[in-house]
Amino acid sequence: MISQQTIDAIFQAAHVEDIIEEFVHLTKRGVNLKGLCPFHDEKTPSFTVSPARNIYKCFGCGKGGNAVTFLMEHEGLSYPETLRYLANKYNIPIEETALPEEYEFEKQERDSLYLINAFARDFYGKQLFETDLGKSIGLSYFKERGLLRKTLDSFELGFASTNRDELTKTAIQAGYNIDLLRKLGLTNDHDRDFFFNRVMFPIHNLSGKVVAFAGRHLINDKKSPKYINSKESDIYHKSKVLYGLHLAKQAIRKEDYCLLVEGYTDVLSLHQSGIENVVASSGTALTVEQIKLIKRYTRQIKILYDGAAAGTKAALRGIDLVLEQDMNVELVLLPASEDPDSYIKKVGVTSFRDYLDQEAKDFILFKTNLILKEAGNDPVKKSCFN
Ligand code: UTP
Ligand code: MN
Repeated sequence: MISQQTIDAIFQAAHVEDIIEEFVHLTKRGVNLKGLCPFHDEKTPSFTVSPARNIYKCFGCGKGGNAVTFLMEHEGLSYPETLRYLANKYNIPIEETALPEEYEFEKQERDSLYLINAFARDFYGKQLFETDLGKSIGLSYFKERGLLRKTLDSFELGFASTNRDELTKTAIQAGYNIDLLRKLGLTNDHDRDFFFNRVMFPIHNLSGKVVAFAGRHLINDKKSPKYINSKESDIYHKSKVLYGLHLAKQAIRKEDYCLLVEGYTDVLSLHQSGIENVVASSGTALTVEQIKLIKRYTRQIKILYDGAAAGTKAALRGIDLVLEQDMNVELVLLPASEDPDSYIKKVGVTSFRDYLDQEAKDFILFKTNLILKEAGNDPVKKSCFN
């Protein structure tokens, strides 16, 4: 736990205007600073920062607080994460005090889970870049898909070899606990590796720590699922994670919209082409928690589905949730049998961006049309809708 002395020093050092200026364009108005509120949509600035009182307040939406509450709300950081962020920014050494025992145990276990995932990420990375098998199978697969080294590095991609206990053995030799390896789903009940002979996609949380993995098979084998994922754990809740968000968040804020795609490779491919405000829901229906994650950075979402998927009920259900969260939703339908990755490769980034602009349809209108189409000439269905 961070000591009270350290907390006091952080609060003293953190000037609200310094912090907020990194995220909001502020201009001087008398003794205060003003800007467009980052927490709601507005055209004239009602977001006010008072350096003298070291607080901010929005007269439009009512949000207010100090440097710490701003970071917690705007960046989605926890209280301790915010304190650490500020301590780092102002070069304040952190003094820790002991936690009550039961918290200490939980915290230690979570820390260990993160450490093991980081170990596994490094292990799979080494397998990819430094072993013959990794290079000849994994790396050549990624190359074939047009992914550059820079992208492999940014997303920390890796390779799990055909050897079925290599990760588990190496981790145990390095002193990691087998129970925790099992808790993360990296090791199965027979002490063998869960992931083998797959290319590996670490899944990160907002701050970029690895919380889970997805592994893609390399042969088109109908018997094994294309992707398998780590099971849920104390640090991985599937419904609360969006793939790629840790690398997308700045761009989402800057562009003021989030592009939502379905697949891991779609995120990699668009990111590599310079479209960085992109995240993936990883093939599941969107959840409220995922939408709330996006809402920290923007209120506009553009959902990119292939033409066939958009008609399905599951896809639409996700979007209804987005609307309930008071977000603006646009839908972009790709030509049938294309996904964002294949389509950007086909037409190039400029045409892809044009397509996004031209084809974006307001979701409510889209849905209305879809229902009308489904109703066809059936007068009963049609009148129900009206
Ligand atoms: P897709 O089948 O469209 O795969 O599934 P993809 O992302 O385009 O992958 P490539 O291009 O064939 O390599 C979309 C997403 O659904 C989830 C994954 O998150 C995938 O990225 N999915 C799909 C699974 O979790 N398991 C599966 O077996 C298949
Ligand atoms: Mn694909």
